[in-house]
Amino acid sequence: MCGIVGYIGKKQAAPVLLDGLSKLEYRGYDSAGVAVLNPAGGIDIVKAKGRLKVLSDAIDGGKKLKGTCGIGHTRWATHGEPSENNAHPHCNDEKTIVAVHNGIIENYAELKAKLIRRGYGFYSQTDTEVATKLVDYYYKKYNDPLQAISQFALRVRGSYALAVMYKDFPETVFAIRKDSPMIIGVEKGESFLASDVPAILKYTKNVYYVDNLQIAKLEIGGVKFYNLDRDEVKNELVEITWDAEAAEKGGYEHFMLKEIHEQPRVITDTFNYVYKNGEIDFSEVGLSDGILKYVKGIVIVGCGSAYHAGMVMQYVTEDLARVPVRVELASEYRYRNPVTNGELVIVISQSGETADSLAALRSAKEKGLKTLAIVNVLGSSIAREADFVFYTKAGPEISVATTKAYSAQLVAGYLLAIKLASVRGTITQDYCKTLLDELCSLPEKVAALLENKHLIQKFASETMDKKDVFFVGRGTDYAACIEGSLKLKEISYIHSEAYAAGELKHGTISLIENGTLVFGVLTQPDLIEKTVSNLVETQSRGALTAAIATEGVKLPDVGFEKVFSIPHTDVHFTTSLAAIPMQLFAYYLSVLRGNDVDKPRNLAKSVTVE
Ligand code: AGP
Repeated sequence: MCGIVGYIGKKQAAPVLLDGLSKLEYRGYDSAGVAVLNPAGGIDIVKAKGRLKVLSDAIDGGKKLKGTCGIGHTRWATHGEPSENNAHPHCNDEKTIVAVHNGIIENYAELKAKLIRRGYGFYSQTDTEVATKLVDYYYKKYNDPLQAISQFALRVRGSYALAVMYKDFPETVFAIRKDSPMIIGVEKGESFLASDVPAILKYTKNVYYVDNLQIAKLEIGGVKFYNLDRDEVKNELVEITWDAEAAEKGGYEHFMLKEIHEQPRVITDTFNYVYKNGEIDFSEVGLSDGILKYVKGIVIVGCGSAYHAGMVMQYVTEDLARVPVRVELASEYRYRNPVTNGELVIVISQSGETADSLAALRSAKEKGLKTLAIVNVLGSSIAREADFVFYTKAGPEISVATTKAYSAQLVAGYLLAIKLASVRGTITQDYCKTLLDELCSLPEKVAALLENKHLIQKFASETMDKKDVFFVGRGTDYAACIEGSLKLKEISYIHSEAYAAGELKHGTISLIENGTLVFGVLTQPDLIEKTVSNLVETQSRGALTAAIATEGVKLPDVGFEKVFSIPHTDVHFTTSLAAIPMQLFAYYLSVLRGNDVDKPRNLAKSVTVE
């Protein structure tokens, strides 16, 4: 996944492009580059391997490049290793056409061979250079910038958010997208293009979400949109409610810590999105009571933390609504040939752009199944293609490791389960009200937990040399463990395993050695003793054990190193509280180990490739 930006206006373009790219570094950061149409009518291209700062220093913060029209790119390599040569922008041999791209051209090899047969040479290993030269090929053939892009779109397979500049059109940026995100902003005659909102929020809140296969033409004074037949089409201008500060760190050292602390507000906002006049109102989601009343089953698909949220949703929905629920990894579901029975397929995705989740959505639709997206990014591909959409209200989540969006997904899942149970009459209206009242109290309970973050920080400093950390639990506690383990792995780089507590003895307990740290999540009253027994089994093999448990619940005295208490809540919602100490534990360990918390190695915020 990469980040692209574009600008045409009255300002010098290079500093605007660098500023936008700095807000997109979470999307990719192994190399970067900018191209600016200079006052002499030529195209200046500067690229650099490494973080964006390397590029910025090379052009003195943009001062060395003159011109008011440009495009830029920050890369997370998919084709060709990170290098200056493979960095974008890419250009044709005459340097009269230049482009940046986020996505994957799946038939690039075939197209490259075709272009080589027509005399083209290649300087890089990237699919983007092929894309750029294909545009060049069609521009030479039709002598029309729109038609060149249209022909490109008709010829390639794959995903792209492509921005192109032609030397022959010095005050114009052209762009097209398919399955990769792109937004276009306008403000006082200036036009901005970016992969994501934070890159342009500083300049405008007025944006267009570009539809798949729409061509955009950004000029001084405004933007025009065209279909592949080059007919002009209208696009709706949307006002972004986020503010630039929301996309900044807000005084916290890292986005992740800021986003962890935003969780009380996020839970409130996501709850209030559908909780109106004392009941759950899904009219904005589009899900009618009729669908909920008669749906025969639910399949939840997602990747990573989204999948983990789906695991919690499965337990809660089956228990409350008595509807069969399956949870599947999107990357598996998309290739399975499942037996369907009119299920509602729920796709959970923070970014709404995860390739496997988008493919799973399409697979479900091909089978004639109704689809609900639980996504955080307005206008994202998954949101646009699903039949129904539940927007989580987490706001921009910048840190690669998700926290607030995961919490919002949990709340969305609780609300769906309660609504289903209420419509199907599997819970009383009194219990429904009790559950909703309890959901209302979650934010203050999360806030109370955050007040004690120093206890987690201390424990992290005492355990920072651990080589292996295990998390075990039963029921929703097991689902919480899997998420806690992923958080730890992805930002601290410490090896971790999460296990259903009853499963540990079926092999993996052989990994427990003297000093291995084992967390037990113990929030399900009926299951606490069983899980404590499993923890004692690990202690007998030398493990140090810590517990995350509901305050006031007496735990067997088995010699836990540490017990982290969480406030009491309904058994269905405990994951929302148990997640907090595990998020903080991962965060503080990552900081203690000197890692780049918000941009962990090898990871991208949204995996828009397979
Ligand atoms: C979570 O911390 C990870 N960054 C990752 O597992 C993520 O949840 C996964 O890639 C799914 O992303 P999505 O929610 O944007 O689809």
